[in-house]
Amino acid sequence: MRSGTLVVTLWITILATAIDCKEANAAAPEASLRELARASEMLIGAAVRPWALSEAAYSSTLAREFNMVEPEDALKWETIHPQAQTYDFSQGDQVVDFARRHGMKVRGHTLVWHQQNPKWLTEGKFGSSELAEILEKHIKIVVGHYRGKIFAWDVVNEAFDEVHPGELRSTIWRDQPGISLTEEAGGSTGGPGNSGDSSRSGSAANRKNASYAYIERCFRWAHEADPQALLFYNEAEAEAVNRKSDAIYAMVRDFRERGVPIDGVGFQMHVANLHADVGSISDNIKRFTALGVQVQITEMDVALPVDAAGNATPEDLQRQADVYRQIANACLSYRGCMAIQTWGFTDKYSWIGSHSKHKQGAALLFDKDYRPKPAYEALREALRSGSGR
Ligand code: XIL
Repeated sequence: MRSGTLVVTLWITILATAIDCKEANAAAPEASLRELARASEMLIGAAVRPWALSEAAYSSTLAREFNMVEPEDALKWETIHPQAQTYDFSQGDQVVDFARRHGMKVRGHTLVWHQQNPKWLTEGKFGSSELAEILEKHIKIVVGHYRGKIFAWDVVNEAFDEVHPGELRSTIWRDQPGISLTEEAGGSTGGPGNSGDSSRSGSAANRKNASYAYIERCFRWAHEADPQALLFYNEAEAEAVNRKSDAIYAMVRDFRERGVPIDGVGFQMHVANLHADVGSISDNIKRFTALGVQVQITEMDVALPVDAAGNATPEDLQRQADVYRQIANACLSYRGCMAIQTWGFTDKYSWIGSHSKHKQGAALLFDKDYRPKPAYEALREALRSGSGR
Protein backbone atom coordinates (compact mmCIF):
# COMPACT_ATOMS: atom_id res chain seq x y z
CA MET A 1 0.00 0.00 0.00
CA ARG A 2 1.38 3.43 -0.89
CA SER A 3 2.04 5.72 2.09
CA GLY A 4 -0.54 8.26 0.83
CA THR A 5 -3.25 5.59 0.88
CA LEU A 6 -2.19 4.47 4.35
CA VAL A 7 -2.51 8.00 5.70
CA VAL A 8 -5.97 8.41 4.15
CA THR A 9 -7.11 5.02 5.54
CA LEU A 10 -5.81 5.95 8.98
CA TRP A 11 -7.64 9.27 8.90
CA ILE A 12 -10.85 7.59 7.86
CA THR A 13 -10.51 5.10 10.74
CA ILE A 14 -9.83 7.85 13.30
CA LEU A 15 -12.76 9.90 11.99
CA ALA A 16 -15.12 6.92 12.05
CA THR A 17 -14.13 6.09 15.64
CA ALA A 18 -14.70 9.70 16.68
CA ILE A 19 -18.17 9.74 15.08
CA ASP A 20 -18.99 6.42 16.74
CA CYS A 21 -18.06 7.78 20.18
CA LYS A 22 -20.05 10.94 19.65
CA GLU A 23 -23.13 8.98 18.67
CA ALA A 24 -22.71 6.64 21.58
CA ASN A 25 -22.54 9.65 23.92
CA ALA A 26 -25.58 11.24 22.40
CA ALA A 27 -27.50 7.99 22.64
CA ALA A 28 -26.42 7.22 26.22
CA PRO A 29 -29.30 8.39 28.38
CA GLU A 30 -28.35 10.67 31.23
CA ALA A 31 -28.81 9.12 34.64
CA SER A 32 -32.37 9.57 35.89
CA LEU A 33 -33.24 10.97 39.31
CA ARG A 34 -33.78 7.50 40.74
CA GLU A 35 -30.44 6.27 39.38
CA LEU A 36 -28.64 9.25 40.90
CA ALA A 37 -30.54 8.83 44.17
CA ARG A 38 -29.25 5.31 44.62
CA ALA A 39 -25.74 6.45 45.56
CA SER A 40 -27.03 8.61 48.41
CA GLU A 41 -29.68 6.06 49.43
CA MET A 42 -32.27 8.74 48.90
CA LEU A 43 -35.89 8.09 48.13
CA ILE A 44 -37.11 10.28 45.34
CA GLY A 45 -40.86 10.30 45.09
CA ALA A 46 -43.91 11.84 43.49
CA ALA A 47 -47.58 12.09 44.38
CA VAL A 48 -49.69 10.36 41.74
CA ARG A 49 -53.22 10.30 40.36
CA PRO A 50 -54.21 6.73 39.49
CA TRP A 51 -56.29 7.60 36.42
CA ALA A 52 -53.28 9.30 34.79
CA LEU A 53 -51.25 6.06 34.92
CA SER A 54 -52.88 5.00 31.65
CA GLU A 55 -51.21 7.96 29.90
CA ALA A 56 -47.98 6.63 28.37
CA ALA A 57 -45.87 9.75 28.95
CA TYR A 58 -47.10 9.98 32.54
CA SER A 59 -46.34 6.41 33.50
CA SER A 60 -43.03 6.16 31.62
CA THR A 61 -41.69 9.39 33.14
CA LEU A 62 -42.82 8.32 36.59
CA ALA A 63 -41.26 4.87 36.35
CA ARG A 64 -38.02 6.18 34.85
CA GLU A 65 -37.39 9.01 37.31
CA PHE A 66 -38.79 8.02 40.70
CA ASN A 67 -38.30 5.19 43.16
CA MET A 68 -41.29 6.08 45.34
CA VAL A 69 -44.91 7.06 44.81
CA GLU A 70 -47.69 8.34 47.02
CA PRO A 71 -51.36 8.43 46.05
CA GLU A 72 -52.26 12.14 46.01
CA ASP A 73 -55.91 11.63 47.01
CA ALA A 74 -56.70 7.93 46.60
CA LEU A 75 -56.14 6.94 50.24
CA LYS A 76 -58.01 9.83 51.80
CA TRP A 77 -61.20 9.08 53.71
CA GLU A 78 -63.65 10.41 51.11
CA THR A 79 -62.20 8.06 48.48
CA ILE A 80 -61.28 4.96 50.43
CA HIS A 81 -64.14 4.98 52.96
CA PRO A 82 -67.02 6.68 51.09
CA GLN A 83 -69.80 5.11 53.19
CA ALA A 84 -69.77 3.96 56.78
CA GLN A 85 -69.70 0.29 55.78
CA THR A 86 -67.91 0.63 52.43
CA TYR A 87 -64.22 0.69 51.70
CA ASP A 88 -62.97 1.27 48.15
CA PHE A 89 -59.37 0.23 47.69
CA SER A 90 -59.45 0.18 43.88
CA GLN A 91 -57.51 3.40 43.26
CA GLY A 92 -54.98 2.75 45.98
CA ASP A 93 -54.46 -0.79 44.71
CA GLN A 94 -53.77 0.55 41.22
CA VAL A 95 -50.93 2.70 42.54
CA VAL A 96 -49.54 -0.10 44.67
CA ASP A 97 -49.59 -2.44 41.68
CA PHE A 98 -47.83 0.13 39.46
CA ALA A 99 -45.17 0.59 42.12
CA ARG A 100 -44.61 -3.15 42.47
CA ARG A 101 -44.14 -3.55 38.72
CA HIS A 102 -41.58 -0.76 38.64
CA GLY A 103 -39.66 -1.47 41.82
CA MET A 104 -40.93 1.59 43.69
CA LYS A 105 -41.86 2.10 47.34
CA VAL A 106 -45.27 3.43 48.32
CA ARG A 107 -45.97 6.06 50.97
CA GLY A 108 -49.48 6.15 52.40
CA HIS A 109 -51.30 9.47 52.81
CA THR A 110 -53.19 9.94 55.10
CA LEU A 111 -55.11 8.24 57.93
CA VAL A 112 -56.18 11.26 59.98
CA TRP A 113 -56.86 14.70 58.53
CA HIS A 114 -59.49 17.40 58.86
CA GLN A 115 -60.06 17.68 55.09
CA GLN A 116 -61.49 15.40 52.40
CA ASN A 117 -63.60 13.50 54.88
CA PRO A 118 -66.93 12.01 53.73
CA LYS A 119 -70.22 13.59 54.83
CA TRP A 120 -71.39 10.45 56.62
CA LEU A 121 -68.48 11.05 58.98
CA THR A 122 -68.48 14.82 59.39
CA GLU A 123 -72.25 15.10 59.64
CA GLY A 124 -72.79 11.88 61.57
CA LYS A 125 -73.02 13.56 65.00
CA PHE A 126 -71.00 10.78 66.58
CA GLY A 127 -70.09 10.86 70.23
CA SER A 128 -66.52 10.68 71.40
CA SER A 129 -66.24 6.95 72.05
CA GLU A 130 -68.17 6.12 68.89
CA LEU A 131 -65.80 8.29 66.90
CA ALA A 132 -62.81 6.59 68.51
CA GLU A 133 -64.20 3.23 67.47
CA ILE A 134 -64.74 4.43 63.89
CA LEU A 135 -61.23 5.84 63.65
CA GLU A 136 -59.55 2.80 65.18
CA LYS A 137 -61.39 0.53 62.78
CA HIS A 138 -60.57 2.73 59.78
CA ILE A 139 -56.89 2.84 60.62
CA LYS A 140 -56.68 -0.89 61.25
CA ILE A 141 -58.59 -1.86 58.10
CA VAL A 142 -56.71 0.51 55.77
CA VAL A 143 -53.24 -0.14 57.20
CA GLY A 144 -54.07 -3.84 57.40
CA HIS A 145 -55.12 -3.94 53.74
CA TYR A 146 -51.76 -2.49 52.71
CA ARG A 147 -49.65 -4.35 55.25
CA GLY A 148 -46.30 -5.19 53.66
CA LYS A 149 -47.17 -3.05 50.59
CA ILE A 150 -47.10 0.46 51.96
CA PHE A 151 -43.81 0.99 53.74
CA ALA A 152 -44.59 4.32 55.42
CA TRP A 153 -47.76 6.12 56.50
CA ASP A 154 -48.64 9.72 57.20
CA VAL A 155 -50.64 8.70 60.23
CA VAL A 156 -51.74 12.20 61.13
CA ASN A 157 -51.66 15.18 58.79
CA GLU A 158 -51.72 18.90 59.69
CA ALA A 159 -52.94 18.57 63.28
CA PHE A 160 -51.34 21.85 64.37
CA ASP A 161 -52.99 25.19 63.76
CA GLU A 162 -52.05 27.94 61.30
CA VAL A 163 -53.85 30.77 63.03
CA HIS A 164 -52.58 29.92 66.50
CA PRO A 165 -49.17 28.41 65.80
CA GLY A 166 -48.09 25.97 68.44
CA GLU A 167 -51.65 24.97 69.27
CA LEU A 168 -53.58 22.04 67.96
CA ARG A 169 -56.18 22.66 65.30
CA SER A 170 -59.81 22.24 66.25
CA THR A 171 -61.07 19.27 64.23
CA ILE A 172 -63.51 16.41 64.35
CA TRP A 173 -60.67 14.27 65.68
CA ARG A 174 -59.40 16.67 68.30
CA ASP A 175 -62.46 18.31 69.83
CA GLN A 176 -65.50 18.18 67.56
CA PRO A 177 -66.22 15.97 69.50
CA GLY A 178 -62.69 14.53 69.42
CA ILE A 179 -61.59 11.13 70.60
CA SER A 180 -60.95 11.01 74.30
CA LEU A 181 -58.04 9.77 76.28
CA THR A 182 -58.31 6.12 77.38
CA GLU A 183 -56.75 3.94 80.01
CA GLU A 184 -54.36 2.44 77.50
CA ALA A 185 -53.09 5.89 76.49
CA GLY A 186 -52.47 6.50 80.16
CA GLY A 187 -55.38 8.69 81.18
CA SER A 188 -59.05 8.63 82.01
CA THR A 189 -61.66 7.31 79.64
CA GLY A 190 -63.14 10.78 79.71
CA GLY A 191 -66.39 11.83 78.17
CA PRO A 192 -67.10 13.71 75.02
CA GLY A 193 -65.08 16.83 74.45
CA ASN A 194 -61.42 17.37 74.02
CA SER A 195 -58.81 15.27 75.67
CA GLY A 196 -57.03 18.34 77.00
CA ASP A 197 -59.22 18.23 80.11
CA SER A 198 -56.29 17.87 82.47
CA SER A 199 -58.47 17.56 85.57
CA ARG A 200 -59.39 14.05 84.41
CA SER A 201 -55.85 12.87 83.86
CA GLY A 202 -54.06 10.79 86.41
CA SER A 203 -50.52 12.16 86.42
CA ALA A 204 -48.49 15.23 85.58
CA ALA A 205 -47.15 13.49 82.47
CA ASN A 206 -50.68 12.82 81.30
CA ARG A 207 -51.69 16.39 81.89
CA LYS A 208 -48.78 17.59 79.82
CA ASN A 209 -49.54 15.14 77.01
CA ALA A 210 -53.28 15.26 77.10
CA SER A 211 -53.69 17.72 74.27
CA TYR A 212 -52.11 15.49 71.67
CA ALA A 213 -53.19 12.23 73.29
CA TYR A 214 -55.50 11.56 70.35
CA ILE A 215 -52.51 11.63 67.98
CA GLU A 216 -50.71 9.13 70.19
CA ARG A 217 -53.65 6.75 69.98
CA CYS A 218 -53.62 6.89 66.18
CA PHE A 219 -49.94 5.97 66.07
CA ARG A 220 -50.53 3.04 68.40
CA TRP A 221 -53.42 1.74 66.30
CA ALA A 222 -51.42 2.03 63.07
CA HIS A 223 -48.51 0.20 64.68
CA GLU A 224 -50.77 -2.63 65.78
CA ALA A 225 -52.07 -2.99 62.23
CA ASP A 226 -48.60 -3.14 60.65
CA PRO A 227 -45.65 -3.26 63.06
CA GLN A 228 -43.21 -3.02 60.13
CA ALA A 229 -44.60 0.17 58.61
CA LEU A 230 -42.80 3.43 59.29
CA LEU A 231 -45.14 5.90 60.94
CA PHE A 232 -44.95 9.62 60.21
CA TYR A 233 -46.43 12.81 61.51
CA ASN A 234 -46.86 15.07 58.43
CA GLU A 235 -47.24 18.85 58.52
CA ALA A 236 -47.45 22.05 56.45
CA GLU A 237 -45.55 25.24 57.23
CA ALA A 238 -43.38 23.55 59.81
CA GLU A 239 -40.36 23.22 57.52
CA ALA A 240 -38.38 25.98 59.20
CA VAL A 241 -37.78 26.56 62.89
CA ASN A 242 -40.97 28.30 64.02
CA ARG A 243 -43.67 27.99 66.66
CA LYS A 244 -45.44 25.24 64.81
CA SER A 245 -42.32 23.13 64.34
CA ASP A 246 -41.34 23.84 67.98
CA ALA A 247 -44.64 22.32 69.12
CA ILE A 248 -44.22 19.30 66.84
CA TYR A 249 -40.66 18.88 68.05
CA ALA A 250 -41.86 18.80 71.67
CA MET A 251 -44.53 16.23 70.80
CA VAL A 252 -42.15 13.98 68.87
CA ARG A 253 -39.53 14.16 71.63
CA ASP A 254 -42.16 13.21 74.16
CA PHE A 255 -43.36 10.32 71.95
CA ARG A 256 -39.82 9.03 71.58
CA GLU A 257 -39.20 9.25 75.33
CA ARG A 258 -42.36 7.31 76.12
CA GLY A 259 -42.00 4.73 73.36
CA VAL A 260 -44.93 5.88 71.24
CA PRO A 261 -44.29 4.27 67.83
CA ILE A 262 -43.28 7.22 65.66
CA ASP A 263 -40.54 6.83 63.06
CA GLY A 264 -40.49 10.09 61.21
CA VAL A 265 -41.70 13.55 60.45
CA GLY A 266 -42.84 14.68 57.01
CA PHE A 267 -42.35 18.29 56.01
CA GLN A 268 -44.67 19.10 53.13
CA MET A 269 -42.56 21.88 51.57
CA HIS A 270 -45.14 23.69 49.46
CA VAL A 271 -42.97 26.72 48.70
CA ALA A 272 -44.87 29.94 47.94
CA ASN A 273 -43.47 33.21 46.57
CA LEU A 274 -40.11 31.61 45.87
CA HIS A 275 -39.35 32.09 49.52
CA ALA A 276 -37.66 29.34 51.47
CA ASP A 277 -35.55 30.12 54.53
CA VAL A 278 -33.06 27.38 53.74
CA GLY A 279 -30.80 28.03 56.75
CA SER A 280 -33.70 27.62 59.13
CA ILE A 281 -35.03 24.59 57.21
CA SER A 282 -31.63 23.00 57.53
CA ASP A 283 -31.51 23.70 61.30
CA ASN A 284 -34.96 22.19 61.64
CA ILE A 285 -34.02 19.00 59.77
CA LYS A 286 -30.96 18.81 61.99
CA ARG A 287 -32.85 19.00 65.27
CA PHE A 288 -35.52 16.49 64.23
CA THR A 289 -33.05 13.92 62.89
CA ALA A 290 -31.09 14.33 66.14
CA LEU A 291 -34.16 13.00 67.97
CA GLY A 292 -33.63 9.71 66.16
CA VAL A 293 -36.58 10.06 63.79
CA GLN A 294 -36.17 10.34 60.07
CA VAL A 295 -37.26 13.34 58.08
CA GLN A 296 -38.90 13.12 54.68
CA ILE A 297 -39.79 16.00 52.40
CA THR A 298 -43.23 14.83 51.40
CA GLU A 299 -45.06 17.30 49.15
CA MET A 300 -42.58 19.68 47.58
CA ASP A 301 -43.59 22.11 44.90
CA VAL A 302 -42.48 25.66 44.16
CA ALA A 303 -45.38 27.69 42.80
CA LEU A 304 -44.66 30.47 40.30
CA PRO A 305 -46.80 33.29 38.95
CA VAL A 306 -48.11 32.19 35.55
CA ASP A 307 -49.79 33.83 32.55
CA ALA A 308 -53.18 32.78 31.16
CA ALA A 309 -51.54 29.91 29.28
CA GLY A 310 -49.99 28.64 32.50
CA ASN A 311 -46.43 29.69 31.62
CA ALA A 312 -43.88 31.17 34.02
CA THR A 313 -40.99 33.47 33.02
CA PRO A 314 -37.56 31.97 32.26
CA GLU A 315 -36.12 34.01 35.14
CA ASP A 316 -38.61 32.53 37.60
CA LEU A 317 -37.91 29.03 36.32
CA GLN A 318 -34.23 29.59 37.16
CA ARG A 319 -35.09 30.93 40.62
CA GLN A 320 -37.33 27.92 41.11
CA ALA A 321 -34.45 25.63 40.18
CA ASP A 322 -32.30 27.31 42.86
CA VAL A 323 -34.98 26.65 45.50
CA TYR A 324 -35.17 22.97 44.53
CA ARG A 325 -31.37 22.72 44.59
CA GLN A 326 -31.00 24.40 47.98
CA ILE A 327 -33.72 22.36 49.65
CA ALA A 328 -32.34 19.14 48.19
CA ASN A 329 -28.88 20.05 49.42
CA ALA A 330 -30.25 20.78 52.90
CA CYS A 331 -31.89 17.35 53.01
CA LEU A 332 -28.84 15.59 51.58
CA SER A 333 -26.67 17.12 54.32
CA TYR A 334 -28.27 14.88 56.95
CA ARG A 335 -28.30 11.11 56.72
CA GLY A 336 -31.58 11.09 58.59
CA CYS A 337 -33.28 13.07 55.82
CA MET A 338 -34.24 10.17 53.64
CA ALA A 339 -36.73 11.27 51.01
CA ILE A 340 -37.52 14.10 48.67
CA GLN A 341 -40.96 13.81 47.20
CA THR A 342 -42.75 16.28 44.94
CA TRP A 343 -46.52 16.82 44.90
CA GLY A 344 -47.03 15.53 41.37
CA PHE A 345 -44.22 15.72 38.83
CA THR A 346 -45.65 17.29 35.68
CA ASP A 347 -47.15 20.77 35.49
CA LYS A 348 -49.95 19.13 33.53
CA TYR A 349 -51.35 17.76 36.78
CA SER A 350 -50.79 19.84 39.88
CA TRP A 351 -53.06 21.04 42.66
CA ILE A 352 -51.45 24.52 42.56
CA GLY A 353 -53.53 25.67 39.58
CA SER A 354 -56.97 25.18 41.09
CA HIS A 355 -55.70 26.03 44.57
CA SER A 356 -54.51 29.49 43.41
CA LYS A 357 -57.38 30.17 40.97
CA HIS A 358 -54.83 29.62 38.20
CA LYS A 359 -52.73 32.63 39.17
CA GLN A 360 -49.88 30.30 40.07
CA GLY A 361 -48.56 27.10 38.62
CA ALA A 362 -45.53 25.61 36.87
CA ALA A 363 -44.51 24.30 40.30
CA LEU A 364 -43.00 20.92 39.42
CA LEU A 365 -39.97 19.32 37.74
CA PHE A 366 -41.47 18.59 34.32
CA ASP A 367 -43.52 20.92 32.13
CA LYS A 368 -46.94 20.11 30.71
CA ASP A 369 -45.33 18.13 27.88
CA TYR A 370 -43.15 16.14 30.26
CA ARG A 371 -40.03 18.07 29.27
CA PRO A 372 -37.54 18.44 32.12
CA LYS A 373 -37.32 21.97 33.52
CA PRO A 374 -34.32 23.76 35.07
CA ALA A 375 -35.61 22.52 38.45
CA TYR A 376 -35.14 18.94 37.27
CA GLU A 377 -31.53 19.61 36.28
CA ALA A 378 -30.94 21.33 39.62
CA LEU A 379 -32.25 18.31 41.51
CA ARG A 380 -30.05 16.03 39.45
CA GLU A 381 -27.00 18.16 40.26
CA ALA A 382 -27.85 18.11 43.97
CA LEU A 383 -28.24 14.32 43.95
CA ARG A 384 -24.99 13.90 42.04
CA SER A 385 -23.03 16.05 44.47
CA GLY A 386 -24.69 14.50 47.52
CA SER A 387 -23.88 10.97 46.48
CA GLY A 388 -21.11 10.53 49.01
CA ARG A 389 -23.12 11.42 52.09
C1 XIL B 1 -54.42 18.15 47.81
C2 XIL B 1 -54.51 17.40 46.48
O1 XIL B 1 -53.34 17.64 45.77
C3 XIL B 1 -55.71 17.85 45.69
O2 XIL B 1 -55.88 17.01 44.56
C4 XIL B 1 -56.97 17.82 46.55
O3 XIL B 1 -58.04 18.36 45.84
C5 XIL B 1 -56.76 18.57 47.83
O4 XIL B 1 -55.63 18.07 48.52
N1 XIL B 1 -51.53 19.15 51.91
C6 XIL B 1 -51.78 17.81 51.88
C7 XIL B 1 -52.34 17.19 50.65
O5 XIL B 1 -51.44 17.10 52.83
O6 XIL B 1 -53.16 16.09 50.93
C8 XIL B 1 -53.07 18.19 49.82
O7 XIL B 1 -53.41 17.55 48.58
C9 XIL B 1 -52.25 19.42 49.58
C10 XIL B 1 -51.90 20.09 50.88
